[in-house]
Amino acid sequence: MKTKGVKVKIPAKKMLYTLNQIEEAMNKEQMVTLVKEKLGDAKLIVASNREPYMHVWRGEEIKTVRPASGMAVALDSIMQACGGTWVAHGAGDADQEVVDEENVIEVPQKNPKYRLKRVWMTKKEEQGYYDITSNELFWPLCHTVYVRPKFNERAWNEYKKINQRFANAILEEIGDEQAFIWFQDFHLSLAPRMIKNKKQDLVTAHFWHIPWPQNETFRACPWKHKILDGLLANDLIGFHTRYHCNNFLETVDRNLVSKTDRSEYSVLYKHKKTYVKPFPISVDYHKIKKMAEEPERQKTIKPIKHRLNLENKVVGVGVERVDYTKGIPEKLKALEWFLEKNPQYKEKLTYIQIGSPSRLRLEEYRSINEEIEELVEDINWRQGTKKWTPIIYLSEHHDFEDIINYYMLADFCIVSSLHDGMNLVAKEYISSKTNADGMLILSRFTGAQEELTDALLVNPYDTRRFAAVIKKLLTLKAEKKKERMQKLRDIVEENNIYTWAGNIVSNISKIA
Ligand code: G6P
Repeated sequence: MKTKGVKVKIPAKKMLYTLNQIEEAMNKEQMVTLVKEKLGDAKLIVASNREPYMHVWRGEEIKTVRPASGMAVALDSIMQACGGTWVAHGAGDADQEVVDEENVIEVPQKNPKYRLKRVWMTKKEEQGYYDITSNELFWPLCHTVYVRPKFNERAWNEYKKINQRFANAILEEIGDEQAFIWFQDFHLSLAPRMIKNKKQDLVTAHFWHIPWPQNETFRACPWKHKILDGLLANDLIGFHTRYHCNNFLETVDRNLVSKTDRSEYSVLYKHKKTYVKPFPISVDYHKIKKMAEEPERQKTIKPIKHRLNLENKVVGVGVERVDYTKGIPEKLKALEWFLEKNPQYKEKLTYIQIGSPSRLRLEEYRSINEEIEELVEDINWRQGTKKWTPIIYLSEHHDFEDIINYYMLADFCIVSSLHDGMNLVAKEYISSKTNADGMLILSRFTGAQEELTDALLVNPYDTRRFAAVIKKLLTLKAEKKKERMQKLRDIVEENNIYTWAGNIVSNISKIA
């Protein structure tokens, strides 16, 4: 890949072809070959706030924890396959104990495949950059769920400071070499400009894992120009859906002196062209399939079923971070409505809701957690019997090994997000259903619904219809369900995580 002197004058015709071509499905090996060929000697640097491995004290021992972040899990598969460096916030309380003098630890520790370089921050900095600006400004601003964003100037100053710290750490890691820097998400919107200010010839792409709102919403942000300016330093910006690309172009058009081109999906700003393109993220289909097929797995599932009294029951599952965008109360209300209207399912159906605690320093997150706990208690009291608890709420962090057991034992999965960039739980569930049994109920407000059209789609706010869809799922003929599930599996197999990464690298190499 050419990283010296980013060439933006690519003939429009060629670019059009490049950006509209039918992207190819790829497996891990094909993706690795492509990345090697396109990147050549250039280093691959991923930068995100959330790290893929956290080190935490458990008593006297240091343990490794995999955080509940679809983004971190997805990117870890890519980095394990390609190698390189991942720069992220060292958020674990034992993170400092295990790094070298460059703040680096090789991961995964048992069989190291890439470098994890940690960035540190004080509690005050973390509060301004992560709690307030990332999670109380960007998160509600980009998700249309009617939570008011908070605009706090002091916190914004911390956000700027930490973005600069990430940029410095990245530049330190690159030294005089060539590199492709791949930023993730809203925590690092200013860092690309900071990098390019220092080294204009580095190639950067940014993937925005959450929705991009309409300008009508975004325009309220007092730092909108800075954010757009930061992002447009990139050579490529990716979103999950074309709709989000369009929202982004519209926002740029309305707020910056620039030239947007809707035919080739690009922005010309400060004499530089940035391409804006959809790349729907996915999961490591084959890895999940392999995990699901492990012969030992059935032996683990049986005791879970016994312990939770699930034998001879229809079982539903939901796996979410406890976040107000995930629509967990809406789903529980629909389940209760369903049970009221269909009493024949009493004592015959159990729903397991796994909720990973998330962002608990923030009031909105503490209160959604309480709301869910109260609702579960109320529903179980109203609907349950001596022998039967309709909703089992497992509110603790589960590692993926565990989650996959729940996917496998469940007859159906419900993803009811009120707004979601993609939603990878839907794709994980599908990948784990190796016999094409099971069924998925999926919110219409997820990016995933564009691809997963054979799922049963719902508007999570419409409780009555949502309950009717649960009924529909339970009465669908087995062969019909299998047919739909097989189609869903084919889609996820084809557009897997390696297809996603391969297509981004392939596009960037044509642009830069
Ligand atoms: C979303 C974001 C990720 C983030 C994850 C978990 O999926 O797109 O960037 O890592 O939520 O949130 P957290 O704040 O715990 O990293």
